[in-house]
Amino acid sequence: NYTLTPEGHHAKLTGLEGAKAPAINKTWLEVETQYLVIQLSETLQVGKIYWLYMEFQGELANDLRGFYRSEYFEDGVKKVVATTQMEPTDARKAFPCFDEPAMKAVFHMTLIHPSGTVALSNGMEMGKNQNVLQTKFKPTLKMSTYLVAFVVSEYSSIRTAAETDVLVRIWARRTAIEAGHGDYALSITGRILDFFQSYYNSKYPLPKSDQIALRDFDAGAMENWGLITYRETSLLYDPITSSNKDKEWVSTTIAHELAHMWFGNLVTMKWWNDLWLNEGFATYVSYLGVDDVQPTWNIKDLMVMTETHKAFAFDSNKFSHPLSLPEEEVKTPAQINALFNTITYSKGGAVLRMLSEFLSEPVFARGLSAYLKQFAYGNTVYTDLWGKLQEVRLSVNLPATISEIMNRWILQMGFPVVTIDTRTGNITQNHFLSDADSKPSRSSPYNYEWFVPISWMKNGTVMDRYWLLEKNGNDCSKLSEWVLANVNVSGFYRVNYDPQNWQRLLSQLSTDHSVIPVLSRAQIVDDAFNLAKANMINMSLALRTLSYLSEEREYLPWQSAIKHLNTFINRFRHTEVNTKMQKFLWSKVQPLFHYLKNITADWTEILSSHTNQYNQLNAISLACTAGVEDCLDLTKMWYRQWMKNPDKNPIKHSMRSTVYCNGIAAGGSEEWEFAWNLYKKSVDDAEAELLIYILSCTRKPELLNRYLNYMLDPNMVQKKHVNYVIRHVANNVVGQPLAWDFIRANWSNILKEQKHASFFTILYFTTKSFSTEVELKKVLVKCKVNINQWLEIYVNNR
Ligand code: BES
Ligand code: ZN
Repeated sequence: NYTLTPEGHHAKLTGLEGAKAPAINKTWLEVETQYLVIQLSETLQVGKIYWLYMEFQGELANDLRGFYRSEYFEDGVKKVVATTQMEPTDARKAFPCFDEPAMKAVFHMTLIHPSGTVALSNGMEMGKNQNVLQTKFKPTLKMSTYLVAFVVSEYSSIRTAAETDVLVRIWARRTAIEAGHGDYALSITGRILDFFQSYYNSKYPLPKSDQIALRDFDAGAMENWGLITYRETSLLYDPITSSNKDKEWVSTTIAHELAHMWFGNLVTMKWWNDLWLNEGFATYVSYLGVDDVQPTWNIKDLMVMTETHKAFAFDSNKFSHPLSLPEEEVKTPAQINALFNTITYSKGGAVLRMLSEFLSEPVFARGLSAYLKQFAYGNTVYTDLWGKLQEVRLSVNLPATISEIMNRWILQMGFPVVTIDTRTGNITQNHFLSDADSKPSRSSPYNYEWFVPISWMKNGTVMDRYWLLEKNGNDCSKLSEWVLANVNVSGFYRVNYDPQNWQRLLSQLSTDHSVIPVLSRAQIVDDAFNLAKANMINMSLALRTLSYLSEEREYLPWQSAIKHLNTFINRFRHTEVNTKMQKFLWSKVQPLFHYLKNITADWTEILSSHTNQYNQLNAISLACTAGVEDCLDLTKMWYRQWMKNPDKNPIKHSMRSTVYCNGIAAGGSEEWEFAWNLYKKSVDDAEAELLIYILSCTRKPELLNRYLNYMLDPNMVQKKHVNYVIRHVANNVVGQPLAWDFIRANWSNILKEQKHASFFTILYFTTKSFSTEVELKKVLVKCKVNINQWLEIYVNNR
């Protein structure tokens, strides 16, 4: 809120250095665009300096936007943290400013705060005035408003040794710091910063990097230059209670935000329509950063599952959108916010990975370095990046310019399916849509054709890259050996083959699958099931890609298979084919289950491999789903041991959510009550989230209904967990109809009271397994949405 001047204006204007300021005629606020308009009696003069002054005040509300309030309890005392979240359009909510990424400025910050608190901001502190407790900060570098941050808290911190080049500090609640939960973050931050300094060949320009963990935080983390803010679970790692999945998330998040220090902070997109440059980039290189500090995790391969596959799912829908939208389509805060989505992050990351693959990593990095050097402290559009990469491309042989190749991937939505017919030597591309009968919702300047880099193998030998530049390429020869294209998913597309080649690939998988790289084995399964869903091959062929799984020990192919198997499991669990299906599942997973049981000495030792740890969870989940007594007894026994001695939990942390979920599913109300009581007492975020999840795993409707009812009472389920409850319950086969009935009965209550539960999330999760038109109509009528809005909701939540 602006304080009006005696003349009734929102601002005062003064001329400096001899300039004469025109009088203000009128000022007003434009609601839709969030502008303050100042109408002057004359125009301002170029080259003159003016001083625009305004006073304003605001409430420190707990609304997670702009300058806001966050609370927590420590030793029974309520503590308040005042903190900020400006991106994308809330700096204007904290102070008046030209709140656009291209309007970069130097910020001089001073905070006055209560004694006993510490103040942090982008710049380094420069001494305090103890009388009023005022902290003044070094001026920032030239930067965008969305990167401004300031926090006042009673936090403690740990820091790197004094002699290090860049001071790294981790800030959190005193008890969390004392318990050592910031240690892991501190141990990797400096190393990841070093990695990026050498990868980008560009020095980190600030003397310090603060990272702070906040209880109430909307996103996962935010890359404010010099003061990165995190949700607690994205920064703090407790070696005793966190899992290796949590450790991976902390590592990826830190790497992602540090990557922004260059890509985003030093060089910024001109406008939000190119947000993908920021976020897609940080997504891609975060995997390189994590790989550097955790080289045994195989994290670069995991990227294909977490990003590429996610992007494929979203982008095969006719309502998807291009990575880079025209500026006119991205104007209002709502339109800007909508861009923080799967396309921007995951497709952005996957497409940049493809670019780096065909240029080679060193050439790609050299281009980036040149780009960062030229545009430091400035703003760019994506063509600037293509330009720089084109300059350093050196000896890489390409069939067209980088911009001709890449524009096809970023200016049209979707991606191709490449079909290789070994009988004729024909190779073709088509826009891949998961619903084969649908038409894309917008037209494309390139007619939905791409320049496709095709890496391929013939009978186990890697061949030279082939570029498919038209709809049909016909310069290939007929082949009688097996052919595998898009080796290691180095391109952003799917592949289909003629039946004979599919058959040859299946034979190779069952005779010796190791000849085919592990990422490609995972991809064969994923492509086959998605092609089958789109009616391009038979589902029976897709199912046959699973035949060899009894020989498979690697995580990626199993993970790929399980995603698709789950669809079948959920659909057939309550039908007469369930027994047969369970038998099939057991025949496939049994060897893996026993292999892991053996190498962990009967599940007593921790696996050294990161991905094997994940696969252990797959094996246990699947074996329990298959109803195997061995597995059910095992999880029940583990759960009982935990109940007997809640403080001395025998289960390895990484296995807890899977084991307990299955333990609760196999158990009754006693098991459930035990977890519920722990939740009510929990103080730790990660533990509370784990309990919220496992409570949804029971198969008893009366418990699930009780759980749903608790959700409306903030004394039972904390507000920030409401979303998770409904979502987890709806993901349970027994819970799904209950969740839907529940939200229909409590519709107005949920909308009114549960501000933290997003309407769309609730809608999506409670109805995603609906498969008939009658069910769909019920949703549309109940929620007063039309079919197009509904599809948007559906696509955006995928
Ligand atoms: N710049 C974003 C934070 C953000 C997200 C601001 C949405 C405004 C709206 C940050 O770099 C980011 O991408 N954070 C991710 C986590 C990351 C590990 C993918 C997030 O918050 O989910
Ligand atoms: Zn980001």
